[in-house]
Amino acid sequence: MSSGYGKGAPLSYNKYLKVPELIRLQETLSEPPSHDELLFIIIHQTYELWFKQILHELDATIKWIDEGRTFRANHSLRGVVSIERILVTQIHVLESMAPIGFLEFRDKLNPASGFQSMQFRELEFVSGAKDEKILSTFAEDEFAYKRLNERYTSPSLADAFWGLVGRSGLASTTHDERIAATVEILTHPEKYAEIYNMQDLLIEHDELIVAWRYNHIQMVERMLGMKRGTGGSDGVGYLMTTLNKKFFPELWEARTHLNIESKGDEK
Ligand code: HEM
Repeated sequence: MSSGYGKGAPLSYNKYLKVPELIRLQETLSEPPSHDELLFIIIHQTYELWFKQILHELDATIKWIDEGRTFRANHSLRGVVSIERILVTQIHVLESMAPIGFLEFRDKLNPASGFQSMQFRELEFVSGAKDEKILSTFAEDEFAYKRLNERYTSPSLADAFWGLVGRSGLASTTHDERIAATVEILTHPEKYAEIYNMQDLLIEHDELIVAWRYNHIQMVERMLGMKRGTGGSDGVGYLMTTLNKKFFPELWEARTHLNIESKGDEK
């Protein structure tokens, strides 16, 4: 059937956004189709689209930080955390699916798993949590491996941030220097206004991804209990181990060393 969107047709909403193509991209595997499989596909695809937008913003943020455009970088980071706030709560939509409805089609998904989400791994790598073991699990997927390897070998957002701190006159190469620099920034917010705002946005980025991980775990346990994952892990037990992942561990650790005495008489 012709789409009616031939070359000569004027631009329209459906044409610009490729809606006919978009709504053809949800192909269920269950036979006869299990009612909840459409929701399962749509929610994953929605996440992947938001991941794409987050990666777009983070790549630009790194470039802007390197160019010294901290205002512009912070503006993009604000966009990133706004999306992430939606991602954290969006996982609850899946909880409207009855566990028994999920089991109708779950076996068809084997051995596919969210563990293989290339863009989620890109998000982790570009933020600063690079993992060679995870990279190697993509060895058979040429497209994903190429993208992830590029991120693995390129400077991350964390690298860009510590570079900026260094250029502001605070030593930021070693772990201890980063803690000391962060304490100094947290002690004098106005003196380091743009960098202060940036560390606030970065710690929020970290916090929201952990919040997403936590909500995902709760949802998984509600659906599966302690069953093994389709990706081969032991499911909830494995996912709990990921809660400690942080992109900017020094920003968190510095809070322990902050004390009011360093502030002096400054108001
Ligand atoms: C009923 C729905 C879902 C279930 C039962 C589920 C279950 C699981 C399980 C058991 C794992 C551990 C790996 C494995 O052995 O498979 C996992 C990992 C993962 N899932 Fe889900 N998941 C669901 C929905 C989602 C959604 C909507 C997303 C959104 C992108 C998602 C993203 C991920 C990611 C990124 C990982 C890797 C986490 C990490 O290794 O740090 N999952 N999922």
